[in-house]
Amino acid sequence: MDYLLNICILLVIFSVSSLSKQFWDFELIKVGYFTSNASIADIELNAKRIDRGRYGCSGFIEAKVDIYDEDVRVELIVKRSAFRSGPYTTLPMKIDNETLPTVFNVFYKNVVMENAQKCCENAPYFEGNYVGPLTKRRVVLNECTIDTEKLPSYMMEGYYITRTTVYAKDWYGYLETLVYVESAK
Ligand SMILES: *[C@@H]1O[C@H](CO)[C@@H](O)[C@H](O)[C@H]1NC(C)=O
Ligand SMILES: *[C@@H]1O[C@H](CO)[C@@H](O)[C@H](O)[C@H]1NC(C)=O
Repeated sequence: MDYLLNICILLVIFSVSSLSKQFWDFELIKVGYFTSNASIADIELNAKRIDRGRYGCSGFIEAKVDIYDEDVRVELIVKRSAFRSGPYTTLPMKIDNETLPTVFNVFYKNVVMENAQKCCENAPYFEGNYVGPLTKRRVVLNECTIDTEKLPSYMMEGYYITRTTVYAKDWYGYLETLVYVESAK
């Protein structure tokens, strides 16, 4: 599994981090989000800097209907540029409209789930494999950071844009981050 993909999932889902063992730091510059219909799913997230390379993300993600596997695809795109103003190049690390069980079993479970239990109310939790549907819920985030031990030691400097889009029945929404990665001195 591609490490960069994991990072992005981390950034995207809970935004993020304490990079003690890393040879790079990062700055979370911006978090953006969109919901095509707030009566179906709603989101509001704010990232606050806690310390160098450490951001706490607070807010909520709410699904107001139960979510069935067959209705959902998840797409992740990552772009990088040496300059904030671009031009940005799309990286090969991406998720091409994966199903919810894959996203949960591969990414969420391995990278996010444990930590989510510490800082989130109502975050999905499962033992063994994820079994849908995901019942409607409001997940509340209280200054979530991420355990970064699973992240790679090296990352190329630059600006990274990640956009995770969820396409569901009569609805879509996304979460976008702009991150600056800097080599540690
Ligand atoms: C948003 O979703 C609700 C609930 O499904 C629906 O009643 C409403 O018509 C939708 N609004 C738009 C603008 O599609
Ligand atoms: C994922 O699906 C959406 C909606 O059908 C489409 O616009 C998008 O191009 C797809 N992405 C990929 C990577 O195939």
